[in-house]
Amino acid sequence: MTEIRRVLSGMRPTGRLHLGNYHGALVNWARLQEQYQCFFFVADWHALTSDYENPKSIPEYIREMVIDWLSAGLLPEKSTLFVQSLVKEHAELFLLLSMITPVPWLERNPTYKDQIVQLENKDLSTFGFLGYPVLQAADIIIYRADAVPVGVDQVPHVEITREIARRFNFLYGNVFPEPQAILTPTSKILGLDRRKMSKSYNNAIFLADSPEEIAAKVSTMVTDPNRARRKDPGNPEICNVFEFHKLYSPEEVVAEIDPACRKAEIGCVECKKRMAQYLIAGLEPIREKRKALEADPQRVTDIIWEGTQKARKEAAATMELVRSALGLNLQAG
Ligand code: TRP
Ligand code: SF4
Repeated sequence: MTEIRRVLSGMRPTGRLHLGNYHGALVNWARLQEQYQCFFFVADWHALTSDYENPKSIPEYIREMVIDWLSAGLLPEKSTLFVQSLVKEHAELFLLLSMITPVPWLERNPTYKDQIVQLENKDLSTFGFLGYPVLQAADIIIYRADAVPVGVDQVPHVEITREIARRFNFLYGNVFPEPQAILTPTSKILGLDRRKMSKSYNNAIFLADSPEEIAAKVSTMVTDPNRARRKDPGNPEICNVFEFHKLYSPEEVVAEIDPACRKAEIGCVECKKRMAQYLIAGLEPIREKRKALEADPQRVTDIIWEGTQKARKEAAATMELVRSALGLNLQAG
């Protein structure tokens, strides 16, 4: 396995991020930026592959998401943060890669097949949606990234990226490293209703939620489903509130709650109140940073533009190599 130097990942702009995004992707990204050259970008073209009917909210979603990235600890001094659609080279490489990508590779992509079944209220019968992984491959290899931190659902896309890179190298000469996936451990915390935390399920706690919102949401959380009455003993191992305690409460509190729950010495209402208090305190630094960034919108714009300039330079340099590998570098006159 080759040594990892450069890491790249992206997210579709979905607006404000929740704790699932935070404990899944963002914590991991923030750690990686300490060790590697990191590129993190907003995949706004990818958002259009399934939501082409509603492009209007994308600009606001981009800003909100970048503010959350910064609030959660991504540092523009360490990571290059940018927006996909501002680096047109991704589209050029996507076009060229689409020439060499066999359609059956895309049709048998498990994510493609899943989404067609799951998102039945969306029109996914487009060329763009089928080509989603080709655009993603372009995003990755245009920076000649060695590694891509992603959740398990995105692993097939990194695999297709490797296949496309290999095919390109075979046809035109060795331009691209084959990137490997760095699997992001899935966050143990669930949504308020114990389903996966997701904006579309309406069960999420957002990084930007106010203390009052957090307290109100926590009070509605589903606990151990077998604990119907206050006097029933509970099982913290299957309680989502307890997962939050483990992440946000001091060790002594966690050590006290575990047996108290099992012996029904503490009720869920009180247990949630205590957890909410630590959760609110734990997220305070993130809310503080968000407040500062909201008060200085120019700073966010500058960060996006500086990152985009750096990304453009890298992407342009790779495209020079690509064009000459294909002989597509006619000079005028
Ligand atoms: N498909 C990814 C997602 O939905 C987003 C994405 C687009 C991406 N291009 C990428 C992730 C390149 C990693 C690398 O989460
Ligand atoms: Fe969960 Fe706490 Fe209730 Fe136990 S007491 S079931 S840990 S909320």
